[in-house]
Amino acid sequence: MATFQTDLPDFTAPKKSTGMASIYIETYGCQMNVYDSQAINGLLKRKGYEIVDHDLEADVVLLNTCSIRDLAEHKIASRVGDLRHRRTQTNLPQPLIGICGCMAERMGTDLHKGKRKIDLVVGVDNYDTLPGLIEELLAKQHMTGRRTTADKKARTVVGHRTDAHYVAPPALYPINNSHLVTIHKGCDYKCTYCIVPLTRGPQSEKSPEAIIAEITNIVASGGQEVTLLGQNVTAYNWQQGMDFAALVEEVAGIEGLQRIRFLTGHPKDMHPHLMDTIGRLDKVCPWLHVPVQSGSDRVLRRMKRLYNCAEYLEMIDYARRVIPDVTFSTDFIVGFPGESESDFQDTLEMARKVKYDQAFSFKYSERPGVPAEKLADDVPDEEKKRRLAALIAVQDEVWHDLATESVGAVWSGVIEGRARHQEQESAEGAWRLRTANNRKVILTGGDYEIGQPLEAEITGFKNTTFMGTVRNSIGN
Ligand code: 5AD
Ligand code: SF4
Repeated sequence: MATFQTDLPDFTAPKKSTGMASIYIETYGCQMNVYDSQAINGLLKRKGYEIVDHDLEADVVLLNTCSIRDLAEHKIASRVGDLRHRRTQTNLPQPLIGICGCMAERMGTDLHKGKRKIDLVVGVDNYDTLPGLIEELLAKQHMTGRRTTADKKARTVVGHRTDAHYVAPPALYPINNSHLVTIHKGCDYKCTYCIVPLTRGPQSEKSPEAIIAEITNIVASGGQEVTLLGQNVTAYNWQQGMDFAALVEEVAGIEGLQRIRFLTGHPKDMHPHLMDTIGRLDKVCPWLHVPVQSGSDRVLRRMKRLYNCAEYLEMIDYARRVIPDVTFSTDFIVGFPGESESDFQDTLEMARKVKYDQAFSFKYSERPGVPAEKLADDVPDEEKKRRLAALIAVQDEVWHDLATESVGAVWSGVIEGRARHQEQESAEGAWRLRTANNRKVILTGGDYEIGQPLEAEITGFKNTTFMGTVRNSIGN
């Protein structure tokens, strides 16, 4: 099993013939892509490339892409056009443009077709080839004055390699005070709507030793919190001998590590013994992202989600019994092929019953090559839109009630950074506290440090964010 450490300087790296090229990386989609971009960043820096913050400064622009819905892919096509157009307008030389991530994997050499003018295409398991490919293309450009001469196949590296796992450098982190740690890649479930098994390939675990070493390194670099990441982390099962509960137990044993989060859990894998472990270990945060997708058994069956509504609700009940202060979030898809009005009403009912803190809701989007492509996409777009709006409205009501009950409560949490502009009630100087169960509280006034533990009294809320005042500072 190969793990590619991306943070160590490589003293044997050959000098580039083209001088210090600069690279800009733009990330779309899920947290896995955020982690992968960090790994790419590490791989390129290690070879001497400079990573820059603006596309106009870059010799090479890499777009790390998502294929989950057609809209995500359309965004990339227009972004490429936009990048090229900005160079023409500003009279700057065109950059090399590379497509990485799920779109690269799904479309391969097809990305070179049409007017897109893509220079390189590198899929999710082949980022270790990026430095060499870029070097080669830059050298060609240097010699010929033209952007690209190599043939399209040579500029396209895709295909799954179960042996390749990346380790992103902790120095590039954290994101909101949490260090992402990918623990496996791919997915062996075959939910009928989902492109992930095609783009990310079969499930393949990073070894427990590599995971522990990565987190130990993060803690040694000053990190306090990790988010264990995977398409389906609860299916982790290293060599059929170490399941996710056992891995979490090991990770919790790392001295100096304070909090563990994880994303995403599959409801089918939320076994009682895993929930017991989460409830027992103080370091494991009581927040479960357990996408239900639909509240109708008929639709769940057609989606091949491998649980029914009663089993799902039983899992939620059990979690509430054994995990103190647990909160839940979910994903929903509306307008799946064959979803009737009554199926949709069952989905609304599910949202009301579970009372999620957060729901990420999407209109069904047909993806090429997935099993549901064979089903007629028979809910008209207008109807999908109406259902989406109705579901969001129900979730807003649920949240409003939950949030109203919370005003006056005192919660402990950790400062994760400055408040983002849109979260601030009163302009300057606000901070964002995150509770273990993943609630955000904006604090105005005072000066805090990232990672500082605090207690806050909840004074109000706006959308999914709470406002609070600091009660006291609790010891580290
Ligand atoms: N159409 C709409 N939403 C989808 N998701 C996955 N595939 C599709 C699709 N084809 C949603 C699911 C998943 C989330 C990451 O994206 O809700 O949990
Ligand atoms: Fe897609 Fe289902 Fe795998 Fe999640 S569990 S990545 S929805 S196939």
